[in-house]
Amino acid sequence: MIKKIGIITSGGDSPGMNAAIRSLVRSALYNNIECTGFYRGYQGLIENDYKPLGLRDVSQRLGLGGTFLKSARSSEFLEKEYRSKAYENLKSHSVDLLIVIGGNGSIKGASVFSEDFNFPVIGIPASIDNDVFGTDHSIGFDTSLNTITNSIDKIRDTARSHNRLFFIEVMGRDCGNLAIHSGLATGACYVITPEIDFSIENLISRLDEGKKLYKTSSIVVVAEGNKYGSASKIAEDVGKIYQDYEIKVTILGHLQRGGSPSAFDRIVAGRLGMGAIDAIKSGKFNVIVGIIKNELNYSPINSVVKESNSIQNEIININSVISR
Ligand code: F6P
Repeated sequence: MIKKIGIITSGGDSPGMNAAIRSLVRSALYNNIECTGFYRGYQGLIENDYKPLGLRDVSQRLGLGGTFLKSARSSEFLEKEYRSKAYENLKSHSVDLLIVIGGNGSIKGASVFSEDFNFPVIGIPASIDNDVFGTDHSIGFDTSLNTITNSIDKIRDTARSHNRLFFIEVMGRDCGNLAIHSGLATGACYVITPEIDFSIENLISRLDEGKKLYKTSSIVVVAEGNKYGSASKIAEDVGKIYQDYEIKVTILGHLQRGGSPSAFDRIVAGRLGMGAIDAIKSGKFNVIVGIIKNELNYSPINSVVKESNSIQNEIININSVISR
């Protein structure tokens, strides 16, 4: 019987984390389950930095980016000694189950913690990278994608005016989801991802093809985790052998993580938050709550240790045909 849950937001923040906390707290209280939030993810659990969360503690948060519980990447939590401290702190608050809102690394941490102490956990995928296994949508991906799209649209204006080639580096860690989707959304002529082999020659032949089809400016989206190198390195290497364009580089950086969550991310957060409490009610523990084909889905939390979200070839294929 779960009477009290602990909640953390962990890893890189993402827009919609606040909306997820709100949904969790309100759904939990509706079901007579108390909530305690711990600040700065696993670090706050280790340091016992907490706050009981009531209905009004989550008011006026729905549309705010970031996370009011704050987040961190705790290196201490990688050590069992510190995980034991976290466990003792949870017990001292009579917390019966821990909910981790975060990306791949954070949910892996929850899985390890649960196995260490036989302590029930639930993962809610929240990451702009959309790399968490067991869901089509991680909270924050849609907002970040829209931010990237708006930014590239602006860059496109100046690229078009000056007949330039822009390399735009986007986040995503080891996953190309932000890159391929923003590439399609902005008509980038080429997208470089961690998942697909890349060669400078292949890119140049694509640029040449564009030139022959009377393209006067071009956008290349570069996923930060690609195996060749940064957007600056790729731009430099292209520039050494291809002089048909003046080349510029933009690294979008952390602006991709900020901003008010999109309606879509707020709705995903609302569904996953209540989905987590529904899981508790039906005795489903140690799961990731996700949405697959628009249905709530529960996958074993340890599946995230072995797998991560793949990129959709369909998106890549569409872009390669229509963005010429
Ligand atoms: O996981 C989210 C993410 O924004 C990645 O896309 C990026 O590689 C990483 O976090 C950056 O992390 P930090 O803000 O700790 O530098």
